[in-house]
Amino acid sequence: MVQFTLPKNSRIRTGKTWPKPDGATNVRAFKIYRWDPDTGENPRVDTYYLDMDKCGPMVLDALIKIKNEVDPTLTFRRSCREGICGSCAMNIDGINTLACIYGLDEISGDVKVYPLPHMPVVKDLIPDLTHFYAQHASIMPWLETKTNRPEKEWKQSIEDRKKLDGLYECVMCASCSTSCPSYWWNSDRYLGPAALLHAYRWIIDSRDEATGERLDQLEDPFKLYRCHTIMNCTKTCPKGLNPAKSIAEIKKMLLNRHV
Ligand code: SF4
Ligand code: FES
Repeated sequence: MVQFTLPKNSRIRTGKTWPKPDGATNVRAFKIYRWDPDTGENPRVDTYYLDMDKCGPMVLDALIKIKNEVDPTLTFRRSCREGICGSCAMNIDGINTLACIYGLDEISGDVKVYPLPHMPVVKDLIPDLTHFYAQHASIMPWLETKTNRPEKEWKQSIEDRKKLDGLYECVMCASCSTSCPSYWWNSDRYLGPAALLHAYRWIIDSRDEATGERLDQLEDPFKLYRCHTIMNCTKTCPKGLNPAKSIAEIKKMLLNRHV
């Protein structure tokens, strides 16, 4: 019989249950993944109770309330509180999304919060995005030009600019890549939906002059073709973007240049 060995720290133990707020009549439970590498202990899930009559409407409001009023050791990233910086991405109620724009009223029952799946965890709800950012850098996320610099700006027609809609809005939250089974198993070589959406954003930019090189780089059985059109990326993107479509467009461009 095949025997599997679970990776170190993969077993989640029962955590601490924090007291309910005194006198509250509208109480909700939050079950939150906790892991502190400095303790050497396995992760746990702590249960917190909040008075919902004194809490803001978003999941991030609840996390901030817990940190400010109940347990200051709870650790998570956040910055803009407007769905713009991408830093508060986490797994909420089984969905990879942004805590600051995910309403508590969208969840029934207890609110379960975990870090983004299949990423190394730095602490609690904070994933290590070092490799994710390196993959983004590898697709050359900037304008590559060969002709002489114009006196003013690089111009673009209104129609060409419109081609970037649905791409430039990406906030690099990693919700899509970390929802993709192909990325879970092959993230060492598969670039994943976020990096590929950005690759496409520069490939179709009318001002860019490195389209051939960009396509050459992606013509690889792993970097691009590990996408099996599972579509989790598009389903989960909290900004309503469609990375699967970008990947399909790159595949189409590669096919077309061979016919
Ligand atoms: S495509 Fe959507 S889910 Fe993926 S990184 Fe960009 S904003 Fe996040
Ligand atoms: S805090 Fe910036 S996207 Fe949520």
